Amino acid sequence: MTTPVVHLIDHPLVQHKLTLMRQKDLSTSSFRRLLHEISMLMAYEVTRDMPTQMIDIETPLEKMRSPVIDGKKTVFVVIMRAGSGFLDGMLDVVPGARVGHVGLYRDPKTLGAVEYYFKMPQGMNERDAIVLDPMLATGNSAVAAVNRLKETQPRSIRFVALLAAPEGLKNFHAHHPDVPVYTAAIDRQLNEHGYIVPGLGDAGDRLFGTK
Ligand code: URA
Repeated sequence: MTTPVVHLIDHPLVQHKLTLMRQKDLSTSSFRRLLHEISMLMAYEVTRDMPTQMIDIETPLEKMRSPVIDGKKTVFVVIMRAGSGFLDGMLDVVPGARVGHVGLYRDPKTLGAVEYYFKMPQGMNERDAIVLDPMLATGNSAVAAVNRLKETQPRSIRFVALLAAPEGLKNFHAHHPDVPVYTAAIDRQLNEHGYIVPGLGDAGDRLFGTK
């Protein structure tokens, strides 16, 4: 049986930026900028074991063989809408990556995930998928997104969340024990509305200034 893996990204720069983002009086533009910065730092960890291949190059002094990654083999899968705030920072680091989108909304009564959009690049069986959603709360959207993604048979799947709740991690790994999760913090719990506490509030609203 596969043992679920959670990578806690405890780098001081990530933790510092997360602390700033949690604060309720932070402006929309600062929240957006920090999410961008933190996603670049998290991309560094998520891509740590990315495959490389050796190519022949010439330095000003001599010829050598040196490693490169094939960015096109990576597909960032954005869970809309808050996942889009994670995307640009990841693309800054892996500019050749492809991008897929999953549109899900949370039914406010059941908290279940309802799909309204799904679009992936061609040839997913040769690509490594990195799923982006800042908040792994109940885990229902994450489970639904990865269920759909698995139908396209990507070479591998990883899930990146800025914040996770223990309940969400448990739910996610009950359905997808083979998908490692990368997160900057595992908070205390979910509240009765399905929000992570202490958390940072509604990531989409804070990112887009919709509240
Ligand atoms: N989605 C959010 O944006 N915040 C939460 O706390 C939970 C789900």
